[in-house]
Amino acid sequence: MNTIIKKKKSFSNSENLIILCKKNSTISHYGLLSTELNFIQKKKKDNTEIIFINQYNRLVFIVIAKKENNQYKRIENIRLLGDKVRERIKNEKSCTIVDAQNNQKELIAFTEGMALSNYEFKKHKTNTPALKLKTIYIHADISKKEILELQNIIAAVHLTRDLVNEPFSHLTASDLAKSAKQVGKNNGLKTTVFNKKKIESLKMGGLLAVNKGSIDEPTFTIMEWKPKNAINKKPIIIIGKGIVYDTGGLSLKPTANSMDIMKVDMGGAGVVIGTMQAISSNNLNAYVIGLIPATDNRPSGNAYAPGDVITMHNKKTVEVLNTDAEGRLILADALSFADKYNPKLVIDLATLTGAAARAIGHYGIVSMHENAMKEHNNLKKVGDVTHERLAEMPFWDDYNELIMSDIADIKNLGGAVAGAITAGKFLAHFINYPWIHLDIAGPTFVKTKYGYRGKGATGIGVRLLYHFLKKETAK
Ligand code: BES
Ligand code: ZN
Ligand code: ZN
Repeated sequence: MNTIIKKKKSFSNSENLIILCKKNSTISHYGLLSTELNFIQKKKKDNTEIIFINQYNRLVFIVIAKKENNQYKRIENIRLLGDKVRERIKNEKSCTIVDAQNNQKELIAFTEGMALSNYEFKKHKTNTPALKLKTIYIHADISKKEILELQNIIAAVHLTRDLVNEPFSHLTASDLAKSAKQVGKNNGLKTTVFNKKKIESLKMGGLLAVNKGSIDEPTFTIMEWKPKNAINKKPIIIIGKGIVYDTGGLSLKPTANSMDIMKVDMGGAGVVIGTMQAISSNNLNAYVIGLIPATDNRPSGNAYAPGDVITMHNKKTVEVLNTDAEGRLILADALSFADKYNPKLVIDLATLTGAAARAIGHYGIVSMHENAMKEHNNLKKVGDVTHERLAEMPFWDDYNELIMSDIADIKNLGGAVAGAITAGKFLAHFINYPWIHLDIAGPTFVKTKYGYRGKGATGIGVRLLYHFLKKETAK
């Protein structure tokens, strides 16, 4: 069940209350006793950010964000305060947020942090009660439309988390395609799923090679959102890596600490499905297409092998030197398939390399781009606003020498250094349009709680893409 966020005109003194305010805001009219107001006064002097009063019939939180001149940091701190308050109020059914400082941006950030953290993946636990906190009421000067937009974004992030948290035992490539179809059906998107036969007829050699060792069929899903009043005539395409499980294939991964979380390797696909839901449920005037190549990667008697040479959808040949570098192979086919739409911009998202995760950890997204300087700048800005930040890698031509093959056009393995970049350079051989590559291997899944992103799948990428697409297509 999704968290409901609702506007409320009035509230009584028996409801759980969260008051967002500044140090000097007037809060005498919220039914607090004079002893409590004195207590609050004292706590304010200590710069306490969350002042908690446990009354007989309600919980009251006074939230005063600490001073911070950097706007991005300030907003992110407020989201984190939302998470902290949620932690203490999560056993209540509902609460009301009031905006005593009249700052809509901060109200949204706080509510966003609270609602984003109101998530648990409990599907496979028997006998566990559902989340208790169901409704967040907002008593403030804000339109219903804005509240609904926020609620839709949060539902989309939670959908992405659900998909990424779902283990391979319950999410094959066909299941992933079915989920995309369902999202499409619920939100008026046109969704098409190619089966193996169709993928073979399209000669998607990368996707087919990775799928060779699997007992399940690959899928290739197209989600299209093309409203009549779309601002952009040429589509923006988002592509997500859909490896539903990555064993490494014949270049098998060691079990400990690497294979155990490889259900997350469809994280990019999860973001594409979540983003398509976010833009369609919010009716964005944007022409956007989502592409999802999907399969698992595993060894078998028929699996593709190191040393193989394969021919890709765009006819280029690739020497496979490591079957664990499979993501770039399925993405490459999707990137060249994207060409037929004559796109304005293509963004791919992938849990592509351990190197990206090692470079910056789970704190941000590794990015590269070609022919898309302006778009990348805009995306970076949105990354700062949403705190789904981009860390740009160098993308010099020189890196290409690391993926030169003796017997094919290129190889799928780079050298000992710059693994995230050589993966990006590999992909660049398959593009013909402005392109941004986002390696989300680090932040897609966290083993310990990371603020409102929680523990497990974070859903990072959805808020970034939603707000970027909204901005790019604003009138
Ligand atoms: N799916 C992995 C990358 C990954 C690592 C995702 C950690 C999420 C968390 C990818 O397919 C992979 O195995 N990459 C190899 C590439 C190497 C063989 C060139 C890697 O990064 O080690
Ligand atoms: Zn791999
Ligand atoms: Zn992978």
